[in-house]
Amino acid sequence: MPAKNSRLPGLYKTTILERREAISDAIEIDIDELDAALLGGGIDADAADKIVENVLGTYALPFGVALNFQVNGSDYIVPMVVEEPSVIAAATNAAKMMRAGGGFRTSIDRSIMASQVQVFDVPNMPIAAERILAAKRVLLEKAAVSVPQLVSLGGGPEDLEVRALTPDMLAVHIYTDCLDAMGANMVNTIAEAIGDDIAGLADGKLGLRILSNLCDRRLVRASCKIPADALATKHTSGEETMDAIVNASRFAEVDPYRAATHNKGMMNGIDAVVIATGNDWRAVEAAAHAFAARSGQYLPLAVWRKVQTSDGPMLEGGLEMPMSLGIVGGTLRVHPAARLALRILRVESASELSQVVACAGLASNLAALRALGTEGIQRGHMSLHARSVALNAGAQNQEVQQVADALASENNTTVERAREVLAEIRNANNS
Ligand code: MEV
Repeated sequence: MPAKNSRLPGLYKTTILERREAISDAIEIDIDELDAALLGGGIDADAADKIVENVLGTYALPFGVALNFQVNGSDYIVPMVVEEPSVIAAATNAAKMMRAGGGFRTSIDRSIMASQVQVFDVPNMPIAAERILAAKRVLLEKAAVSVPQLVSLGGGPEDLEVRALTPDMLAVHIYTDCLDAMGANMVNTIAEAIGDDIAGLADGKLGLRILSNLCDRRLVRASCKIPADALATKHTSGEETMDAIVNASRFAEVDPYRAATHNKGMMNGIDAVVIATGNDWRAVEAAAHAFAARSGQYLPLAVWRKVQTSDGPMLEGGLEMPMSLGIVGGTLRVHPAARLALRILRVESASELSQVVACAGLASNLAALRALGTEGIQRGHMSLHARSVALNAGAQNQEVQQVADALASENNTTVERAREVLAEIRNANNS
């Protein structure tokens, strides 16, 4: 069941403890559980030692929440783990604009992943393909035996295809519904279970047996419509901003150099949630970029258009990309912060998680294009940086914004200057 409400205005102005209280209240989780999961970054060296090799310690990153997300009519508080300032604030702001147009709409394919079995030195391609396809049922049955738990839950291998890659090399794809798992281990197991049989049928030599990260049968889609008013900035009208965003989208649609940066901004939001929930972000990245280049030209994964409606012009955004996430298995089992992230999201399936993640991507993309198309991103970055410098200098409560505003206006964000400004503010308040 999603959060009661993801609108928590002013959360950014509160202390860490106050924020934890607000989130524990919004998602109805005991504050002690929240504290415990985040203690020291979630895991200690002993736990880390059970995950990877040659462990020396752990490496923590900031864990925050993006707000205002409304997806298919339900609210979500979106946990993000990210080192880049302004990603969380930007996604939060963009999600608020999207809310003004009814929030996000999403759809998703089933959790289908492909195992690849490579066979080379194939003497006769048409005969090899014919034999493999004729044995499809037997091969799928044997594949199913190798993943009994998945099959007992209603998933498992369900189709197979032969792809002739060169005159003497083929790859067989075995398609498996991985349900709530990312699925890498299971589809690798399947490839290894029936690889020899496939090579035998093809009369060729067995090569690799591994998943494909280009999971293009596991696509997620997110879209939104935003009224012009919600897009206005201090100096730019809603409609001008809308046109600027559409122009920015077109730039990415015709230029791979821009498309790479456009997609990077989108991945800022996506990776942050993928990492927070303990998922394999390299897999998501690999799939995203391979999918972006599927036509032969590297394209943006999110595009924006202006549409005329009876309520006036609206900005329409849409994103489509592969997404292989899990809520069971993998690192999730041992990482308390990843488990907490899933509880904050209150998602009940991998598909639901993937849909929220896609929305985080669309929100991050919108925020970047809106800033870039109007005043540029540096002022926003500067003012967020100024806030953290103000906090570092010891500013409290409303002093934080006062000091930050002064630093930003002077274009000087040193801690020394922040201390001076803070002292001036306190002197003025005491006199
Ligand atoms: C920075 O992390 C992301 C941006 O470069 C994205 C973009 O240019 O669209 C601002």
